[in-house]
Amino acid sequence: MVQKDFLWGGALAAHQFEGGWDAGGKGPSVIDVMTAGEHGVAREITSTIEADKFYPNQVAIDFYHEYKKDIALFAEMGLKCLRTSIAWTRIFPKGDEAKPNEAGLKFYDDVFDELLKNGIEPVITLSHFEMPLHLAREYGGFRNRQVIDFFAKFAKVVFERYQDKVKYWMTFNEINNQMDVNNPIFLWTNSGVLVEEGENAKEVMYQVAHNELVASAKAVMIGKEINPAFQIGCMVSHVPIYPYSCNPADIMAAEEANRQRFFFADVHVRGKYPNYALKEFEREGYNIDIRLEDLAVLKAGTVDYVGFSYYMSTVVKADARNDVDNNIVNGGLANGVENPHIQSTDWGWAIDPEGLRFTLNRLYDRYQLPLFIVENGFGAIDELENGKVHDETRIEYLSKHIEALEKAVDYDGVELLGYTPWGIIDLVSFTTGEMKKRYGMIYVDRDNAGNGTMQRYKKDSFAWYRQVIENNGLK
Ligand code: BG6
Repeated sequence: MVQKDFLWGGALAAHQFEGGWDAGGKGPSVIDVMTAGEHGVAREITSTIEADKFYPNQVAIDFYHEYKKDIALFAEMGLKCLRTSIAWTRIFPKGDEAKPNEAGLKFYDDVFDELLKNGIEPVITLSHFEMPLHLAREYGGFRNRQVIDFFAKFAKVVFERYQDKVKYWMTFNEINNQMDVNNPIFLWTNSGVLVEEGENAKEVMYQVAHNELVASAKAVMIGKEINPAFQIGCMVSHVPIYPYSCNPADIMAAEEANRQRFFFADVHVRGKYPNYALKEFEREGYNIDIRLEDLAVLKAGTVDYVGFSYYMSTVVKADARNDVDNNIVNGGLANGVENPHIQSTDWGWAIDPEGLRFTLNRLYDRYQLPLFIVENGFGAIDELENGKVHDETRIEYLSKHIEALEKAVDYDGVELLGYTPWGIIDLVSFTTGEMKKRYGMIYVDRDNAGNGTMQRYKKDSFAWYRQVIENNGLK
């Protein structure tokens, strides 16, 4: 059984559910120029907003205008917290303004007040895949050190404004996605960066990552000064990589591949670069601009907890070779192979609840900090029939993952702050831009092309999760 004040909640991200992309003075973000794709068809990043293209995040599920009704449903479900993000472009529409946009600040005041009134604690990510498009186009995103200061300023403004409403913060969502440089959407959404012809993508990525890690550490320092009671975490995607066999070559291949997963959290938590990364820079001849003053900032701005998403596991085999282009499922691993012991979702994501317990133990042993599962969920096609959605498979997926987390807490002694399943209400998929890849316990009548009434319906998982929260776990 988890502790009494365990944060059972739901997770969302501003750009995937708010809509209102140009309302209240909001500026365009990097996500507002991403078209819809589908499983196996990549989303396109257009240079401007083109009139004949469909950009699903611009309207999303229109929480911007419907937030009171949606929050009432979250309260009915019994959520103790809601993990969401602040759209940087509502606060600084272009990113480099001298003053913030009051209408944007007021919107989040209203949302947080409504949540708190309903007994739901906001858990906030500062940047979830949506830096201002202007910073990406005119400054080169996080390639440019000026963007560190723009981010720090944004962080300061929101920390000051919401210091009495929000306690749990995270800096950058899934900052480690960009380690997969084979798929352009990751560097673009994490950092506002596109790799140019002739550049070494990995070297660019490490430079951008460095600037972003410094920005994150600065934000932690600023936040702690404003309110020492803040709990500020990092947020990484954790996809454990298993060795294919007990062949020592597979074990070592997995060990090396896992470093790519740990790199960002290693710096966030330890406040310094791990030796394996410094050796890689040296070996590959990467010339990364890391200044002395940055090292001091990294050291001073370490995180209080590790937030992470968990959806699946992967496998590597030392002698396997893949076409890694655009392969989200194996995380761009050249030697990734399928796991013959487990099944996958329709989108090819391996379903592995035991892997969650494994991950919790690994992260806790490595960092000795409280953990927070801020995303986990089952993306699937749901059928609405007579106002009902029977999503037993989702219930089964989530039950098994909750069972695994309970075991990690009860049996292994992992310190876990909470669990916020992804997409508590249906929203736009990040990797594909689809609506039909649904995660929610609340169904939203909207399709991939933007048709539908936008009406909300409770799925079977709604009542099931309410019961879980009421019982403080599975009974
Ligand atoms: C995580 C992201 O990668 O996984 C979310 O933080 C995302 O933004 C979620 O939506 C699920 O991915 P997808 O592509 O199925 O929406």
